[in-house]
Amino acid sequence: MRKIIVAIDGYSACGKSTTAKEVAKVLGFRYIDSGAMYRAVTLYFLEHHISLTNPREVDKTLAQIKISFQVNRKGKTETFLNGVIVEKEIRDMRVSEYVSQVSTLAPVRHAMVEQQRRMGKERAIVMDGRDIGTVVFPDSELKLFLTADVLVRAFRRQKELLDRDEMIDIDTIIENLLKRDEIDSTRLESPLRKAKDAIEIDTTYITIDEEVEEVIRLALGRMLERKK
Ligand code: DC
Repeated sequence: MRKIIVAIDGYSACGKSTTAKEVAKVLGFRYIDSGAMYRAVTLYFLEHHISLTNPREVDKTLAQIKISFQVNRKGKTETFLNGVIVEKEIRDMRVSEYVSQVSTLAPVRHAMVEQQRRMGKERAIVMDGRDIGTVVFPDSELKLFLTADVLVRAFRRQKELLDRDEMIDIDTIIENLLKRDEIDSTRLESPLRKAKDAIEIDTTYITIDEEVEEVIRLALGRMLERKK
């Protein structure tokens, strides 16, 4: 069976990573959370008080950052920053509030895109993010663009945070999501947009299981097509 790249893009909290993880597991592909990479860079910038307006400092800092992923014993992919696990820290609200700003910087994007392309060399990956179908893998066999109503997205994100014992009120979450949507889709460098050949899936009224099933069906279709 032909190995393909599944590129999943869309707004924050549309279920991209939950879907991508599950689809990768079923297909036996590797899952790469590109957002986790931008979050890890952001965490490093915050912890080292790096000024985003000083290009030399940004370049120097990027050279000091190494991001990697490892699958743990439960089969869950975890993010490492310079060899230290940061899976929990990168999901904190303080990182969520700053990550879109860090992601607007061209040197940050170039460094991440280069790493992401290297990870996808062997194909057989599912990668989710904002520019995967448009910039990172414009030749990917299956491109998806997920959307959902902002209220539904906010409740899903609130549940995720609650599961980690972080209680954030719904208005704060909506504000953060809308602010990130705005920055992500209006930035100059590779803004979030739907690739021309991407399939749009509105996840507002469907369950995560239905979403996963639909993506697997599409992926298998592409794999069979390629076999011919
Ligand atoms: O998917 P996420 O919410 O964890 O992503 C966090 C932020 O990272 C998001 O607000 C924008 C940025 N990002 C990006 O610019 N490009 C990507 N491919 C993935 C994420």
